[in-house]
Amino acid sequence: MLSRLQIRAPSRLSQISRQLSRQTRTMAGYNKTKFQLNTGDEIPAIGFGTWQDKDAQEDAVYEALKAGYRHIDTARIYGTEPGVAKGISKSGVPRSDIFITTKLWNNSHHPDDVEAACNASLKDLQTDYLDLYLMHWPSPFARGDKLMPQKDGEIQTGDSDYVDTYKAMEKLVKSGKCKAIGVSNFSRAELERLLRETSIVPAAHQIELHPYLQQTDFVEFHKSKGIHVTQYSPFGNANPIYDKGENIGKLIDDPVLSDVGRKYGKNGAQVALAWGIAKGHSVIPKSKTPARIQANFEGDFKLDVEDVKKIDALDKKLRFNDPSQRFGWNFYADLDGKQG
Ligand SMILES: NC(=O)c1ccc[n+]([C@@H]2O[C@H](COP(=O)([O-])OP(=O)(O)OC[C@H]3O[C@@H](n4cnc5c(N)ncnc54)[C@H](OP(=O)(O)O)[C@@H]3O)[C@@H](O)[C@H]2O)c1
Repeated sequence: MLSRLQIRAPSRLSQISRQLSRQTRTMAGYNKTKFQLNTGDEIPAIGFGTWQDKDAQEDAVYEALKAGYRHIDTARIYGTEPGVAKGISKSGVPRSDIFITTKLWNNSHHPDDVEAACNASLKDLQTDYLDLYLMHWPSPFARGDKLMPQKDGEIQTGDSDYVDTYKAMEKLVKSGKCKAIGVSNFSRAELERLLRETSIVPAAHQIELHPYLQQTDFVEFHKSKGIHVTQYSPFGNANPIYDKGENIGKLIDDPVLSDVGRKYGKNGAQVALAWGIAKGHSVIPKSKTPARIQANFEGDFKLDVEDVKKIDALDKKLRFNDPSQRFGWNFYADLDGKQG
């Protein structure tokens, strides 16, 4: 009996300390839209993406915080964690007022590597906790220091199972390093297996989602499980690396978005963000351009139901980000927009 108590005591204590710290982690004073995660913590609906333009991110993050953003999205692979930290420090906004997400990279999926990877991100972000830590992809790469380990021009894949990786991430919640954990780029079958075989329901799933790739059924599945959806690439094919020469017009120039925007004095990009927020998702637009950074923040506004419906009709099941071939893993196998 005594030994059972001894075993149980620390986990009860850490539970209490998590609950106490939770009380201080609501986004008090943030008067734009926020959503509640299944942990009880809140996430601002508009976040700031930091993929690409690494050298511009210190200034971009500073501009974003000045404009009012309180949610920053980064990842180990972007190399932007140090820039994010500098931008935050320059802004003077307290760490406790900011929701920070970063992501575990594929070379650190082995359960013995997960805590060290998280520590490296914490160090670069100059913080002692993450608001949200995501497994960036379900697919492992070979272990080691190389982020993109290659042999003969091909990625060297690893053999860690994402379920074991996630179980190692669960320990980071227990130790207080991560207030929440989640995943990114999982298929439905992969997510279902994760839910069956692990104990913490992911707080969030970060996926490509925008009016041209709406994934309505998959979104409903998340709602039924209490998993928050974060939309990456909320402007669809605005990211220049998604231009596959397929001659598809830019989502943010779609006449439906512009027409709807006219009613509210907003542009197509702002309407795309407002549509995501109307669905209950957080959106994480990226920009290195101060005027766009400010304008995108004003994408947090309420659309009338009939306007949401007009945008619902734009779905083309068009997916722009699918590195299956390069990463040696068949992503999104059971999801909309899967090519071939
Ligand atoms: N989990 C994942 O695997 C994953 C994958 C992709 C992205 N993400 C996250 O999601 C974030 C956003 O996605 P994203 O970067 O792919 O694409 P995005 O935010 O949809 O689009 C960014 C592009 O749009 C331009 N832009 C921004 N605001 C604009 C505006 N108001 N009008 C016209 N153009 C505008 C930006 O240009 P300028 O910068 O030149 O202004 C940039 O080229 C990323 O930064 C990253 O944090 C995650």
